[in-house]
Amino acid sequence: MRILVTGGAGFIGSNLALTLEKKGHDVIVIDDFRSSKFENLKGFQGDVICGDISEQDLFSLGHVDVIFHQAAITDTLVTDEHEMMKINVDGFKHILSFAEKNTSKVIYASSAGVYGNNPAPHKESDMVNPLNAYARSKREMEVIAQNFRGSIPLLIGLRYFNVYGPRERYKKHAASMIYQLAQQMKAGKRPRIFTFGDQQRDFIYVKDVVEANLLAMNAKENCIVNVGTGKPESFNTMIHLLNNVLGTSLEPDYFDNPYDFYQNLTCADITLAKEKIGFSARYSLAEGITDYFREDQIT
Ligand SMILES: NC(=O)c1ccc[n+]([C@@H]2O[C@H](COP(=O)([O-])OP(=O)(O)OC[C@H]3O[C@@H](n4cnc5c(N)ncnc54)[C@H](O)[C@@H]3O)[C@@H](O)[C@H]2O)c1
Repeated sequence: MRILVTGGAGFIGSNLALTLEKKGHDVIVIDDFRSSKFENLKGFQGDVICGDISEQDLFSLGHVDVIFHQAAITDTLVTDEHEMMKINVDGFKHILSFAEKNTSKVIYASSAGVYGNNPAPHKESDMVNPLNAYARSKREMEVIAQNFRGSIPLLIGLRYFNVYGPRERYKKHAASMIYQLAQQMKAGKRPRIFTFGDQQRDFIYVKDVVEANLLAMNAKENCIVNVGTGKPESFNTMIHLLNNVLGTSLEPDYFDNPYDFYQNLTCADITLAKEKIGFSARYSLAEGITDYFREDQIT
């Protein structure tokens, strides 16, 4: 199949583009490299278009069977609503209009951020509660996608939870907590986390996220589903596992959480993902961290 991966030089997009190519698909990447580097695409043979998804003429690409839409401003600390909406929302509209005229399936990245500080486990039927510009843009994407129901062959939104794995380094401060703590530990520093490290996150390995995207291509109907493990793990456990792979024995350096509110637990309800796209995560946190270290030493 002819497949377009937007944001294909980024963390998740590059893992996806390389896997799709290995499976024999003709893959085109479009990226403006604002939070990634070409190096993520080492070994990739397909076309790479340097362009902004909110402006690029997509019709010159010819027919595309499936679009995996990953391009977005992914830094949750960005507060510029204009820029966030222009890229994440208008950019997505541009992609959807192209998919409509071109009859392409669309699998797009949403985020668990839409749940805000709702109590866990997070279910797709829950009221959404986006609390920052990034999360609001992701929710707006889901709303806009509804308007294209029926005019695009398949439209699947994937609400990723906390993704970690190879090729995330160019996200810098926006890379996963696993990546950030590993860097501290590799520099011989004690990993700094909030008192007393018992907060839990639904960490999901990027290879599972790629798998969820591949499965979504064959879904029978439009849907929005969670992409998480359903098995949250604590920050303390994460540090224990990092000590194991790095061969260190660094104790957490606890400090008081400065935030008035902090989400102590995120956890995906994974029932709908199983039912609608046949997805359940294969990697536990221990297996994911081990594989991550084996692939690129978490550099
Ligand atoms: N990593 C996570 O934990 C996580 C969680 C929830 C949702 N997501 C979503 O998954 C998708 C991929 O995120 P990621 O973690 O790989 O981040 P990333 O920043 O590595 O990837 C985004 C890519 O999009 C590109 N991009 C941004 N704006 C663009 C534009 N206007 N035109 C073309 N390219 C553009 C960037 O250069 C980058 O390569 C995003 O939509 C993000 O919102 C990620």
